[in-house]
Amino acid sequence: MMTRRSLSASPSPRSPKRPKLEHLTSEDFKNGVFLAPMVRSGALPTRLIALQHGATLVWGPEIVDKAILHAKREVDPSTGVISYNGVSRAIFATHPIEKPYLIYQIGSADPELAVQAAKTVMQDISGIDLNCGCPKPFSTHAGMGAALLTNPDLLCSILKALREAMPLEITVSVKIRLLPSQEDTLKLVERIIDTGVSALTVHCRTRNMRDRDAALIERLREIVDFVNGMGKGVAVVENGDCQGWEDAKRVREVTGAHSVMIARAAESNPTCFSPTPMVDLEKILWPKYLRLAKHLDNWWGLTKFCLAQFKGSYVTMKKSEATQLRNKLSQAKNFEDLSDLVDNSWTGEEVFREIVQSIESRPPREHRLIMPSQKAVPLESDDAASLAKSICGSPYGSPGSEPGMITPIGTENPEPPGSGAPLLPDEQRRPLPSMITGHNAVTPTPTPSC
Ligand SMILES: Cc1cc2nc3c(=O)[nH]c(=O)nc-3n(C[C@H](O)[C@H](O)[C@H](O)COP(=O)(O)O)c2cc1C
Repeated sequence: MMTRRSLSASPSPRSPKRPKLEHLTSEDFKNGVFLAPMVRSGALPTRLIALQHGATLVWGPEIVDKAILHAKREVDPSTGVISYNGVSRAIFATHPIEKPYLIYQIGSADPELAVQAAKTVMQDISGIDLNCGCPKPFSTHAGMGAALLTNPDLLCSILKALREAMPLEITVSVKIRLLPSQEDTLKLVERIIDTGVSALTVHCRTRNMRDRDAALIERLREIVDFVNGMGKGVAVVENGDCQGWEDAKRVREVTGAHSVMIARAAESNPTCFSPTPMVDLEKILWPKYLRLAKHLDNWWGLTKFCLAQFKGSYVTMKKSEATQLRNKLSQAKNFEDLSDLVDNSWTGEEVFREIVQSIESRPPREHRLIMPSQKAVPLESDDAASLAKSICGSPYGSPGSEPGMITPIGTENPEPPGSGAPLLPDEQRRPLPSMITGHNAVTPTPTPSC
């Protein structure tokens, strides 16, 4: 859904310096707050803003295996953006700066195609995730998405094939929904964990539930205990109804999940991963997003769609002003039509540079954070313990440094990305180190219910 880019096929000569980060492991899926896979809404600028504002890992939108196979990989030498171009448009776009945090989600019902798709993109990503949650007929009729929940042999054969084919530095993970019965869910989970996945995300709704139905998050605790009991260290990620960083703490307390994944709240406000999310979105986020999207050559239609999803609260801007802006947006046909929103200054390169700086300033394994003002206690694994020790002295992990509580009106969030991962929900409120922590015709139109 992005404009097709006609660019150099080789890596950008101006690729920015990348954070020093080893490849992800299951530990990196723990103690995090993640941006969920979202067709359309999970566009590159949104993922970058989410990362800047504290998302520990970001999932790309689901892309059906076949869709990426014949795409041409091209690099924009001026921005470093990597596009996988289809015939008329980019199917997927990414940037090297997000690679250490980027999980690429595939839709598949075929182990071989899944492996081919994964191999096509693996140089630009850190993990592959299999979508087993989309309940829409366009997905299920081909045996993909939620259809895999009732075909565990196929589901597990895809995961095993991916695990065998991918080098160790690429994690394999999966996103499922609950089955109607808890017993069946646990049986499925057991088989999934045995495939060697690093993380399991559970969207806490069943296939037939709609987004307006409250997620059944209380069912997750037993699943988490079960997975922990299997002793393989696999991370269980809760998904469903989390509203942001603060709310993630509640979700973890209720569920015991290692991490929390956010979709719609992040679609409405991609800064929700921060303890101090932006509030006046039309005033602050819109110009920033517009500038960034234009700089990255993000397709206008996608940019417009994402902007229209942002929903903040009105603090300094009157609701009537915001309505005017929304009308303006709905009439706009290109970036230039919204030039006055950015005071005619398209300084997207600066916005991008700030984001790069924020991401690069994360220490290696920066999400292995100790909650500020919490006292660290010895950890179970040597690895985790040494990580905790190494982080304790970092500006992000120093005990006693309280995170800022309010976003100064009219400014961008000053806090370092990823600061203040939620606590584990155990009784001692034990602060564990928080780990690091496109579509074209073949891929279906997004719906909120995948
Ligand atoms: C616009 C939109 C697009 C989505 N696309 C995907 C997708 O590509 N893959 C997927 O697994 N789930 C997708 N979903 C589902 C979300 O990832 C998530 O499971 C669901 O919205 C529940 O989380 P929430 O309560 O935080 O919104 C999508 C949801 C929305 C709103």
